[in-house]
Amino acid sequence: MSHAPSAVPLSLRPATADDLAELARIEKAVNPAPWTAEQFKAELEKPYSRVLLLTDDETDTQIAGYVVFWLMFDEAQILDIAVDFPFRGLGYGKKMIRQVVTDALRKDIRRVVLDVRKGNAAAIAVYQSMRFAIAQIRKGFYSNGEDAYTMVLDLDLAGMPEEVSDF
Ligand SMILES: CC(C)(COP(=O)(O)OP(=O)(O)OC[C@H]1O[C@@H](n2cnc3c(N)ncnc32)[C@H](O)[C@@H]1OP(=O)(O)O)[C@@H](O)C(=O)NCCC(=O)NCCS
Repeated sequence: MSHAPSAVPLSLRPATADDLAELARIEKAVNPAPWTAEQFKAELEKPYSRVLLLTDDETDTQIAGYVVFWLMFDEAQILDIAVDFPFRGLGYGKKMIRQVVTDALRKDIRRVVLDVRKGNAAAIAVYQSMRFAIAQIRKGFYSNGEDAYTMVLDLDLAGMPEEVSDF
């Protein structure tokens, strides 16, 4: 029996080498400058990098979303985050960011940063709903000449967001 995406139980887990092809396939569909499987693989090998996937509990193979972030020195940096089309608008983007915040706090990191395309209204709305603020504009940051906003979540100023709940 098939389920509506909202009814499919999903959980977060670290990515493995077996996930790389599927990750790259989704990335190609959702990111105008997609990462390759090799780029995701390189992240799996960096000790400070985390690649988390949202997968269905039943088969653990259907990837609904993913986030790549670094926990380095006093900062968590989100490098890539996406939710596949059928699963958007259901709170999963926000929940993945909450997991980044939880992992950061466990290492006593109090600041989360990311760059986002100025025209990416959906992503900016997600970050603002989580109390990220625009800290800087990087002119012509992307290869197509688009500006980036550097957005920062200062956990001391924002207070700790609500706990991560199970999906
Ligand atoms: C950005 C992205 C990850 C958001 O994922 P998502 O699971 O759909 O987002 P959520 O359902 O968690 O939404 C969180 C908040 O943002 C708002 N939001 C989400 N999509 C929105 C949209 N298209 N327009 C306006 N607001 C939007 C939601 O209303 C919600 O606000 P609320 O908590 O106040 O109700 C997803 O759109 C995506 O994968 N985009 C393509 C890849 C991308 O742009 N990544 C970011 C690169 S910096």
